[in-house]
Amino acid sequence: MAAGSPRANERNDREISRRLGEGVDFGAGRGFFGATTVLGSQERTSIATRSATVAGVEAVLFIGIQGSGKTTFYRERLFDTHVRISRDMLKTRNRELLLVRACLAARQAFVVDDTNASKTTRADYITAARAGGFRVAGYYFRTPLRTALARNRRRPRGQVIPVPGVLATFKRFQPPEWAEDFDELQVVEVSGENEVSVRPWTREEGDPPGLERE
Ligand SMILES: Nc1ncnc2c1ncn2[C@@H]1O[C@H](COP(=O)(O)OP(=O)(O)OP(=O)(O)O)[C@@H](O)[C@H]1O
Ligand SMILES: [Mg+2]
Repeated sequence: MAAGSPRANERNDREISRRLGEGVDFGAGRGFFGATTVLGSQERTSIATRSATVAGVEAVLFIGIQGSGKTTFYRERLFDTHVRISRDMLKTRNRELLLVRACLAARQAFVVDDTNASKTTRADYITAARAGGFRVAGYYFRTPLRTALARNRRRPRGQVIPVPGVLATFKRFQPPEWAEDFDELQVVEVSGENEVSVRPWTREEGDPPGLERE
C-alpha cells in the first residue's frame, strides 16, 4: 500500500486514534464520537468532579452563523492561548476529533470554530470536553442575519459563502441553552461599525434570545 494513499491514511488515522485513545477515552456514543457508548473512566467520574472541573482547562465552542465574526474574534482574542479546531481547515469531522483528543490529552485549551448551530453537534463536543475534565464555555455570536450577510458579501472573492448556505444555517440555528451543560456563556454582539461587545450571560437571565434577522 503506497504511503499517503487513502487506505494508508485511513490505517494511519486508526493507529493515531488508538494511541490518542489510551488514557483519554471519551467515546460519547453518537455520530462523530462512535456508534456505541463507551464511557471512559474520566467521563464516568465527570459529574462527581464537576466542581473541580469548573476551574480546569477551557474548551470553547463558538456558536454563530457564517459571517457572524467567529474567526475574526478568535484571531483577535484567543489566538495566543487556544488551539483552533475548524472544519474549514481540517475538512472532516474525524480530523476534528483527532485534534480534540490531542488537546484533551495535552490539557491544552481549544476552540471549536464552526457554526455549531445545532444542539446535537454541540453535545458531542460538550460531552467530550467534560470527559477530559475541561470546563466548557459557549460563545454565542448574536450577529443579526442581515449583518452577517453583508459581511459575507464583502469577503474576498473565493471566501464568500453562497447565500442559501447562510440562510439554511439561520433557519436551523438553535441558540445555546443552559440545559446543554455549559459552565459559562458569553454573548458576542455588534456594538459599532467594526466593534463587538462580549458579555457573560448569567443563569439568572435564563437562556439567551434567538438570532434576529435585522
Ligand atoms: N466586528 C466586525 N465588524 C465588521 N466586520 C467584521 C467583524 N468581524 C468580522 N468581520 C468581517 O466579516 C467577515 C466574516 O467574519 P469571519 O470570517 O470572522 O466570520 P465567521 O463567523 O468565521 O464565518 P464562517 O462561519 O463562514 O467561517 C470577514 O470579512 C471579517 O473581516
Ligand atoms: Mg470562520
